[in-house]
Amino acid sequence: MLEKKLRRLGQDHIAKLLESGAGFVSRSEIEKDLEEINVSLFQELMEGRHLYQEPALVRVKPVPVVPASFSASPEAGRYRAHGEDLLRKGRVAALVVAGGQGSRLGIDAPKGVVEVTPVSGKSLFQLHAEKVLALSKKYGRAVPLFVMTSRANDADTRAFFARHSFFGLDPEEVFFFVQGMLPSITPEGRLVLSRGGGLFMNPDGHGGTLAALRRSGCLDAMRAKGIEEIFYFQVDNPLVAMCDPLFIGLHNLKGARMSSKVVRKRDFDEKVGVIAEVDGKTRVVEYSDMSDDMRYAVDERGNMLYWAGNGAIHMIRRDFVESLTGSGLRLPFHKAEKGIPALDSQGNPVEIPGIKFETFIFDALPMAEKTATLEVLRDREFAPVKNRTGEDSLETSRAMQSELHKSWLKDLGVEVSGRSLIEISPLAALEKEDLAARAQSLPAKIEKDMYIE
Ligand code: UTP
Repeated sequence: MLEKKLRRLGQDHIAKLLESGAGFVSRSEIEKDLEEINVSLFQELMEGRHLYQEPALVRVKPVPVVPASFSASPEAGRYRAHGEDLLRKGRVAALVVAGGQGSRLGIDAPKGVVEVTPVSGKSLFQLHAEKVLALSKKYGRAVPLFVMTSRANDADTRAFFARHSFFGLDPEEVFFFVQGMLPSITPEGRLVLSRGGGLFMNPDGHGGTLAALRRSGCLDAMRAKGIEEIFYFQVDNPLVAMCDPLFIGLHNLKGARMSSKVVRKRDFDEKVGVIAEVDGKTRVVEYSDMSDDMRYAVDERGNMLYWAGNGAIHMIRRDFVESLTGSGLRLPFHKAEKGIPALDSQGNPVEIPGIKFETFIFDALPMAEKTATLEVLRDREFAPVKNRTGEDSLETSRAMQSELHKSWLKDLGVEVSGRSLIEISPLAALEKEDLAARAQSLPAKIEKDMYIE
């Protein structure tokens, strides 16, 4: 029975509230939440097991990075052609993680519905879906799209896709799967009563992708479809170069199990994790884990040594996910302190200090025998929407999208006035080269905002 289970978990305070019949506590919600909780994992976390340990940064060095300039080299053509071949053969799936809470943005909806493009105001989901559609048309083979949601936004996300007829994608090629949840706790290890009368839970982080792929049956679906490679990206980056053939080809031909795109850090103090080699393994060293020696290290020419900022875009082999999840391997849990909107024992709304546990996808990197790392230019591929204002906000992201598309037009000889906003639909051109094919139909001069579709 419920109270017994709570007591077994050392959560007498919630059991007592249930027994007292307090109106603000919902038995059914608590029951539902407890069902989500993996009891043995929870107990082990309470005992301090499976927690992320800061790596001892003794044997640390930069990872070899394929520089952004490589993409223009003749050798890159071989890798790109291989990536294109895999796309043509239907070996690649796109996977977007969209289960996050978007708390910095402060919206009460899935982040993917945020209208992000500079002129037509397309949502993130529409933009990503159109890129996938354009790819499928370009390579004559459907690229399946896997969308990870969380309990809180799964229904809204599915409804959004359905309401918009899947943005032209074949619904049979879109797979939603739900990540796991973990309870947040107080610093004393007590479960927290949420404002809705259940337990305060949080999604288990983007690292939850791996287990959720297996649990949901999506990994089996991928195998059945002949998918070998997963292109992983985050929902909040409208500039993502969807299933970039160069990245796919490089990763696959180099025999990597998991690969990453990196962007050059803006400066020593940018709060982003860097990809480095620690004890012979590739891993992301988080900003907060870096010693000053590492953060400010320079090479013989005085340039930043650890500049390879994690771009949160990965290629992951399907069989790597199978081997990781098949052996019950756990990614380490990171603890984060945060304010939690809760109810006190009298049912009054309070904000209390709490702890949430999350796993991160990049913690799988050190488990891959082989990895590849490719540098990409921030202004071409990385404009995440994280904050309401300032850096990495909607405003900066829209401006970056417009600047990129403007540069494509300028390279094709179109004169574009400085103030105008430009947006090119992925269905018109996924990359600059696609636009070149229709250069004849472009105006010679653009003086106002323009959406090219
Ligand atoms: P962030 O770490 O930026 O988190 O997620 P967030 O939820 O979007 O925003 P904040 O931190 O609450 O403000 C990066 C990507 O990982 C996904 C997010 O949806 C986003 O695409 N994510 C994050 C998940 O899918 N699940 C999670 O549990 C966490």
